[in-house]
Amino acid sequence: MEKVPFIWMDGHLVKWDEAKVHVLTHSLHYGSGVFEGIRWYDTKKGPAIFRLKDHLERLYFSAQVMSMKIPYTKKELEDTAHLLIVKNNIKEGYLRPLAYFGYGKMGLMPIGAPVNVALAVWPWGAYLGHDMVRVKISKFMRIHPKSSEMKAKICGHYANSILASLEARKAKCDEALLLDFEGNVAEGPGENIFMVQGGEIYTPKEGSILPGITRDSIQKFAKKLKIGFHEKKISVKDLMKADELFFTGTAAEITGISHVDGKRIADGKMGSVTRQLRRLYLDVVHGRVKEYEKWLEYCHCEVANS
Ligand SMILES: Cc1ncc(COP(=O)(O)O)c(C=O)c1O
Repeated sequence: MEKVPFIWMDGHLVKWDEAKVHVLTHSLHYGSGVFEGIRWYDTKKGPAIFRLKDHLERLYFSAQVMSMKIPYTKKELEDTAHLLIVKNNIKEGYLRPLAYFGYGKMGLMPIGAPVNVALAVWPWGAYLGHDMVRVKISKFMRIHPKSSEMKAKICGHYANSILASLEARKAKCDEALLLDFEGNVAEGPGENIFMVQGGEIYTPKEGSILPGITRDSIQKFAKKLKIGFHEKKISVKDLMKADELFFTGTAAEITGISHVDGKRIADGKMGSVTRQLRRLYLDVVHGRVKEYEKWLEYCHCEVANS
C-alpha cells in the first residue's frame, strides 16, 4: 500500500511508520474492534468526504454493540478526518477509522481494557481492480443474524469475509458471494449486491447483511431515476437469470458482475441500469449534482491550521 506522512492515533498525528500497537492489544487477538471505510473525492471545490456523518454514526453504533465507549465525540472525529486529509495532502482516497480495545487486559471480556482510536488515510483506486468482476459463490455461509449484530461493522465479522475471499481467489475469481442461512443471496465479503430484472432493482433485505451506506445511496438514486427498488429474498436461480448484477460498497463503489460460478450473466457486459446508477454515483461523489451536495463535506483547512 502507498504510505502517506501521518496517521492519527489517540489524539496525535504520528508518522506513518511509527503508528504501532502493543502485541497484546485485545482487539488484535479477538476481533473486538469496530471500523469504517469512507472515501473522499476530488471535486471542483477541493477534496470532499462522502457521507462522513453517516459513517461515523455507524461507527458509534458498532462501538455501542461492543460496549465500547469511544473517548471522542463524533465532531472530534469529523474534524480529525478533515485534518488528516489536509495534512496528508491527498486529492482522493480512503479513510479508515478504527476503534479498538487496547493493551492491558487479556481474556474475552473486554470491559476494563482501554479504548483506542486511530484514523488513517491512503490513496486507494479500484478496490476490485476491474469495472466488471467474476464471482464465486462461497461454501462459507454468511454469519447467521442470530450469531451477531449484522448492522455493526465489527472486525471479527471479517474472518468470515476473508475465508470466502481466499476461496474465491483459489478458484481464480475476483470476488466471493456469500449466501445466508436459508441459502439465499446475502452479500459479498465487503459489498452489498443488487440484481436488475425487467428494468427494476432487487437487493436482499436486512438481516444477514451489513446495510451499506452505498446501498442506501442507490435506493435514493433509484427513486430519483424512477427505477423500481425492491428488497427481497434472492435465490441463486434468480441470480443466474438476472439481466444485470452489481456490487456496491464504499471501497468497491459500483462494480458490475459478469460471471457467477463461471456462468456468464446476460451478455457479461455492464448493463444499462448499472451504468446509469454508476454514472450518477460518480457525479454525486465528485460534487457534480447539487441535490446531493448535502452528502459531501468539503475538507476545510481551518482545522489543519488550528
Ligand atoms: C460486509 C459488507 N457489506 C457491505 C458493505 C458496503 O457498505 P458501505 O456501502 O457502507 O461501504 C461493506 C463495506 O463496508 C461490508 O464490509
